[in-house]
Amino acid sequence: MKSIITHVQLIQKYLDFFKTKNHKVIQNASLIPQNDPTVLFTTAGMHPLVPYLLGQKHPLGKRLCSVQKCIRTGDIDKVGDESHHTFFEMLGNWNLGDYWKKEAIEYSLEFLTKILKIPKEKINITCFAGDKDSPKDTESAKIWQSLGIKKDKIKFLGKADNWWGPAGKTGPCGPDTEMFVNGFEIWNNVFMQYNKTINNRYEELKQKNVDTGMGVERTLSILNNINDDYLTDAFLPIITQIEKLSKNKYGKNKDETRAMRIIADHIKASVFILSEKIQPSNTEQGYVLRRLIRRAVRYGRLIEIEDFTSKLVEPILSIYQDDYSELKQNKNFIVTGLNKEENQFKQTLNKGLNKFKQFANDKKISGKEAFLLYQSFGFPLEMIVEECKKYKINFSENDFHEEEKRHQELSRTFSGGRFKSGLADQSEQTTKLHTATHLLNEALTRILGKGIKQRGSNITQERLRFDFSFDRKLTEKEIKQIEQLVNEKIKENLSVVRKEMLLDNALTSGAQGEFGHKYPNIVSVYTIEDPTEKRGWFSKEICTGPHVKQTGEIGEFKIIKEESSAAGIRRIKAIIG
Ligand code: ALA
Repeated sequence: MKSIITHVQLIQKYLDFFKTKNHKVIQNASLIPQNDPTVLFTTAGMHPLVPYLLGQKHPLGKRLCSVQKCIRTGDIDKVGDESHHTFFEMLGNWNLGDYWKKEAIEYSLEFLTKILKIPKEKINITCFAGDKDSPKDTESAKIWQSLGIKKDKIKFLGKADNWWGPAGKTGPCGPDTEMFVNGFEIWNNVFMQYNKTINNRYEELKQKNVDTGMGVERTLSILNNINDDYLTDAFLPIITQIEKLSKNKYGKNKDETRAMRIIADHIKASVFILSEKIQPSNTEQGYVLRRLIRRAVRYGRLIEIEDFTSKLVEPILSIYQDDYSELKQNKNFIVTGLNKEENQFKQTLNKGLNKFKQFANDKKISGKEAFLLYQSFGFPLEMIVEECKKYKINFSENDFHEEEKRHQELSRTFSGGRFKSGLADQSEQTTKLHTATHLLNEALTRILGKGIKQRGSNITQERLRFDFSFDRKLTEKEIKQIEQLVNEKIKENLSVVRKEMLLDNALTSGAQGEFGHKYPNIVSVYTIEDPTEKRGWFSKEICTGPHVKQTGEIGEFKIIKEESSAAGIRRIKAIIG
């Protein structure tokens, strides 16, 4: 099937149109947000603009537009149909305190009907129905009507449908009006007038902003009359390659087609994440990457292909390499990363299958056993279900989920929102654990050597968890020494001081940052002062806080576990009493 309009052409038309409306084109930003610490990935075009949506002046003015590469994992279970993806390109236009609903809606309708030539009758609209946080958006509905959209084409829906953001736990958000064609939502105009705070309050923003997002793949499939994003030029080369490798025909069988879509989507997302020099791991972005590759490999088994992930790199590059130079630049890293993870997972699956057979000897698998397979052997639930079906083994998914609930912490990493510091909340206890983490980080360097680097941190009410690069198990003596040093610094009751600094200055002053993390230009730095040291401090880290004022508030520090977290990465869990 040949596309009549390509993704490059659609993007060009969009940016050209908004240029005629005095919008400046902003650069496609990294998939790892630099201006929004509340999310793991850039999930929308607005992330790079968060400080400007909150009131800072943008150097290019008040009217902006872009095409932005995005990763969203919230809908991962829907991937497999015609229109859901973990990686997609989003077109967007913004107004930062300049125009409002009337112009935003006029521009949208003009672009859809005059430039893309979508007939008005095919367009359906939804608007916000109103609730305790914000009134019903009759204003938008009236504007749509005044522009010729019939009343019966406009629906009012609640927050679940017609409210966007914040992307993480806090940040800009507001009611939205969405545009549908052939039943697919293709464009969303968000009227960002609130900032959601950590206390779940919606505060009015200093300025009223418009934030819009149009999905490139969905719009393309509609314009080309295909109604299947995987048949547009944003996917077709990947699908064709999977067809070749698997000898399956796309569209012939429902389950196989679904598997092919999942593989195409997940490996495309993985290639883009790898192109940012992120490696598969057990924390944060690396963990999402690992899940995507492994899920694709698993679906590969369904259509009987293996050792295939890196064979999709060429077709993916053929679609995107002209727009994203990081793909070509890091091609070797991408190919190696995929091959390595696929191989490792293959071994995991084989081990899991052996364990499964042992457990299944008595013709049933308990929730506990299933969870062990899942957690300790990386054996996916769907595969447990499939294997049980195949061999007529008794198994209840509910029992698995009961067990899973008891281990909730695991799934947290995969949910969108989080705080840079790895804090689940900001209670007194987590604040203390957070400062203890900084002490631990420095103590590790002093006891184990300068080479160690932080690779992730996660803090709950009960404990801290800290991952760092180190290539062997710690000895008992080392663990004792680390504990002792941290406790010494707690007893000394050192002051913890926060300062805002330019990133460069922070780094040259000796502040530690997390390896591989991209920081904004201005960062906050927490220093644990120590007058007995020549440099005047014990620890200095770039961090969003919060922290205790004096280390003496922390209490006694104790390491309860030291284990491997991934190749070359150790994990420490510690508590305070
Ligand atoms: N930020 C809005 C969205 O992602 C436009 O839908």
